[in-house]
Amino acid sequence: MWKKFFYKSENKQDQAEMTSVRDDILPAHIAIIMDGNGRWAKKRGLPRKAGHKKGVDALREIVKAACSINIEFLTVYAFSTENWKRPTTEVNFLMKLFSYYLHSEIDEMNKNNVRLNFIGCLTELSGELQRQIRQGEAKTAANTGLNLNIAVNYGGRDELVMAVKDVAQKVLTKEIELDDIDEKMVDNSLYTAHKPPIDLLIRTGGDMRISNFLLWQCAYAEFWFTEKNWPEFTPEQFMRAIADYQKRDRRFGGLDNE
Ligand code: FPP
Repeated sequence: MWKKFFYKSENKQDQAEMTSVRDDILPAHIAIIMDGNGRWAKKRGLPRKAGHKKGVDALREIVKAACSINIEFLTVYAFSTENWKRPTTEVNFLMKLFSYYLHSEIDEMNKNNVRLNFIGCLTELSGELQRQIRQGEAKTAANTGLNLNIAVNYGGRDELVMAVKDVAQKVLTKEIELDDIDEKMVDNSLYTAHKPPIDLLIRTGGDMRISNFLLWQCAYAEFWFTEKNWPEFTPEQFMRAIADYQKRDRRFGGLDNE
């Protein structure tokens, strides 16, 4: 037995297009590579930062949509360990945007029962931004709905190096034996410790690659790509991605039961 969720967008344009998703095989953990902000802006003759600003609006709508169908975990890629290579003005703008987000969205998150969590090497961010992140996380810590993870200064390889060091340290201090090391131990040394693996990875902007995002956690993720740039990604498309995911045959290396 399964029930269909009909997502009804608040956006009039989207109302005609309603995609139904089943509630018995929802992805527990969705990851999104929010790509294409710059291209969205360029196409409209706007500065890149206009695309990033619009990206905040798109994220707000997707978070609401995820809440409406009871998704448990959503992890979004906001700034990679490689994004420091961008011009300083863009990096500074993005850092300011994260601060702004932490001021502007917390009430809405509390209204929607969203628990906020940042992942990545946060100690390399400014002290002020780190303080705002801790504050934002604390203000939403009691919420029990969607767990929203925002990856900032995140790199999948960087995360694995951190986990290897963490486990090696335990061997060095004789807390564990070499043979005690298993997948669970590595998993619990990642930023995503005690969170489920990724079921569905969505990437906007037309590129079909993983870009150092959640390398370990995506081992059996289903991938879904769209040409749409992130600022134009709508809840309707989000629902379509989930509906497509629900049609996939996930065998995890095994065989079909039938
Ligand atoms: C990729 O587009 C996007 C980013 C590097 C920044 C992501 C940030 C947001 C979506 C803003 C909202 C997020 C938060 C948490 C406030 P790009 O700049 O690489 O675009 P391009 O590939 O077209 O150049």
